[in-house]
Amino acid sequence: MEFYSMMESTCTKILMIFVKNFLIFLKKGHKIISSSTLIPNSDQTLLFTNSGMNQFKNIFLGIDKPLFKRVATAQRCVRAGGKHNDLNNVGYTERHLTFFEMLGNFSFGDYFKNEAIQFAWELLTDVNWFNLSKNKLWVTVHNCDGESYDIWSNQIDIPNEHIVKIGSNTNDFCDSDNFWQMGNIGPCGPCSEIFYDRGDRFQGGPPGSLEEFGERYVEIWNLVFIQFDRQENGRLLSLPMLSVDTGMGLERITSILQGVNSNFSIDVFKKLISSISRIMKINDIYINRSVYVIADHIRACSFLIQDGVLPANEGRGYVLRRIIRRAILHGKKLGVNDIFFYKLVSPLIKYMQHIADILHEKKDFIAEILLSEEKLFQDTLKRGLELLEKQLIRLKGNCLNGEIAFNLYDTYGFPFELTQDVCLKRGIHVDQEGFDQAMLTQKKYTKELNKFDISYEKLSLCNVSSIFVGYDKLICKSRVMALFQNNKSINKIYTKEEGIVILNNTPFYGESGGQIGDCGQLNTISGFFQVSNTKKYGQTIGHLGIVNSGTISVGEEIVAQVDQHKRKCISLNHSATHLLRAALSQVLGSHVTQKGSLVNDRYLRFDFYHHATMTTTQMNTVENIVNEQIWKNAPITVDVMPIELARNSGAVILINKQYDKKVRVLKIGNFSTELCGGTHAEHTGEIGVFMITKECSIAAGIRRVEAVTNNVALSAIHQYKMLLKNIFQSTQSDDKNILSKIHEFKCRYQKLEKEIDTLRNQQIIQQSLSFIKDVYYIKDVRILVKQVVNMTSKTLFNMTDCIKHQLKSGVIVLINLNTNKKINLVVAVTKDLIERNRINALSLVHYIIKILGGKGGGRPDFAQAGINNMATTSKISIEVNSLLHNIL
Ligand code: ALA
Repeated sequence: MEFYSMMESTCTKILMIFVKNFLIFLKKGHKIISSSTLIPNSDQTLLFTNSGMNQFKNIFLGIDKPLFKRVATAQRCVRAGGKHNDLNNVGYTERHLTFFEMLGNFSFGDYFKNEAIQFAWELLTDVNWFNLSKNKLWVTVHNCDGESYDIWSNQIDIPNEHIVKIGSNTNDFCDSDNFWQMGNIGPCGPCSEIFYDRGDRFQGGPPGSLEEFGERYVEIWNLVFIQFDRQENGRLLSLPMLSVDTGMGLERITSILQGVNSNFSIDVFKKLISSISRIMKINDIYINRSVYVIADHIRACSFLIQDGVLPANEGRGYVLRRIIRRAILHGKKLGVNDIFFYKLVSPLIKYMQHIADILHEKKDFIAEILLSEEKLFQDTLKRGLELLEKQLIRLKGNCLNGEIAFNLYDTYGFPFELTQDVCLKRGIHVDQEGFDQAMLTQKKYTKELNKFDISYEKLSLCNVSSIFVGYDKLICKSRVMALFQNNKSINKIYTKEEGIVILNNTPFYGESGGQIGDCGQLNTISGFFQVSNTKKYGQTIGHLGIVNSGTISVGEEIVAQVDQHKRKCISLNHSATHLLRAALSQVLGSHVTQKGSLVNDRYLRFDFYHHATMTTTQMNTVENIVNEQIWKNAPITVDVMPIELARNSGAVILINKQYDKKVRVLKIGNFSTELCGGTHAEHTGEIGVFMITKECSIAAGIRRVEAVTNNVALSAIHQYKMLLKNIFQSTQSDDKNILSKIHEFKCRYQKLEKEIDTLRNQQIIQQSLSFIKDVYYIKDVRILVKQVVNMTSKTLFNMTDCIKHQLKSGVIVLINLNTNKKINLVVAVTKDLIERNRINALSLVHYIIKILGGKGGGRPDFAQAGINNMATTSKISIEVNSLLHNIL
């Protein structure tokens, strides 16, 4: 206990709680594992990591084997989309956060309800641990879960009145607060929740009572007994092993242990909030909840960006964008109109050290992303305001159509509340019903988010752990363990039929880590199966392709043979990618971390964090460094070692990736050390030559470099040479004078363009003068209506100008018939007629459109219209003429 008192004096209190939680579970034989990132690792069924158990999903489902049977984590989570979404509660309750840390202990087929309940009780109530008063604790169990009830009742020192059975809301066993599921599909089971009674200072009743929604009884820990895998159709499949998944919100338990009323009043949040209020110059921070929302959102946004999410218009990026915008709008509510949000990254790192330390390296990057998003939103707001203004000018009556408000919101991101505010100030009502209706019919984004709820690949349920032997061998004997066709397991695939083959061991590399899957052949007794791709499904490697001749059957012995040439090219490109990464960080700086990569047999692509376009010098330097490494012919070696050792050896480790306990560390000479499961050359010399072919931006702060190696690089050089040769030939130049030649061409071209312009103008003047004879009068006004053919807009404009000059006073209508079957029409009216209110070009155009259809616009002195209907050609002059008669 001496250790704790020392800690109490030196650490923030939240850190103490964090450490105590780990210590008890260490003592109980758990392995402490780091938090996974907020982007669920290759899990398409989830938007964000929303619970400690996500990273273990495949273990719960029996697809992956656990390395440890008992583990404990402090998992960063975001609940701002999908099944568990607290975004709209933040700021309105004391206990909801979009970003939080979940403390959890897990058992994979080891202990079950008994120990899970015992451990939780000990941590919460023992004097050495959290020392909470036992009579303040309440628990709930599923009313079908007699086993948990009995454990609480008979083995734990808790009065029976504090054990509440919670039933289902419907006939469905799962439709209960005491049944937990990760998403609409996946691992799930009944749960037992522990509540803390904060006393009668707060409103509300115990769980299960009518008043349960008050703030008095707070749920602090959820113990889930994972037993089932929920299917898309709602069926519950029993899992092969019984497991435990628990979750306790760190901020929430801290608020209980620190005796404060809300998550936002715990030590670290208080400091963060005071710093935010200083930066934003707000005084009444504890009255105005907007500051809570901002404090929550800066955490969520910073960690999302840290983990690789960037603002976008769909999927995860869209949710991030919404959170950022929500924070900025709350800033506006507090009267802060200047850009502020990005400034909050520093205090976050300073005051939430226990978790925010990992943000340190990308601090500037996160701030920059937030800043550019904030600027973008300010522009959006400005544009939205302008558009709203335009709508309000046109508005007849005092009610703004809900669809217009929705369009502003949906297309321009202009918040509905702002539309309401602006309208309210002018006594205009906004049709909320119309807005809601438009919102209802537009379910696009919801659909987009739901796409994460797709069914798990059936193949994952195939129990074969395929052994990959393809680091050293490209050909080997193997046995067919399973076959799949249209998601169904079958026994035989016949000639010309497609399918997926599962082998017990295989030299084929399954697509992963950016490297594409291998191609090749599986030779059977009767023929062969052509492999066009290889993919991984959990521990299973699937060979996708078609039976070219003969058949392939389960149980059959085959010879698996990888396409050697293709594999070689892929491996060269993969090794070159490692050289490129190291060279980029030498030239651009250590912030260059990988965002994504693609390695195939033709080229390599590497996406990384960097804010500016690379200069030519930087690209050349990178190319030089990589090629120098190639010329050194350095050895490329692999060591398999525990992840901790790899971390200590300084190997580059991707933060967004989940690694096995043992990892492959790839070393290229003394130049690069990186974790990698891919295939590689043996010496850098094999790469031959490396050439960058493209550098571009793919999102804010992310650059992409594409490059080629070996013979592909050589043929790229040949192509460039050929291209140059063609250019030299057609420009009659050579490498010495090509630039001056191009310059010469440009000057000549400009000069000729000028000459053509002059000639054209002269022609226009001539033609315009010839029109004058057709001028006629309607009353005292001179009128010229003329049809012309295939004129450019510029010529039409010049022509009307020239005629106007001649006429001094009058109306000119030129009807231009285009060969593309379009009519465009220009109308010019001299100033005097406009001033005397006789006629105006814009209203004339509007009249014409009304009668003949089409679109148009302009000013009182000059307007134009486009008319699609060629059928009107013959009557257009007559219509215009009769219109003029009516108007004048
Ligand atoms: N996975 C459980 C939860 O999130 C512990 O509540």
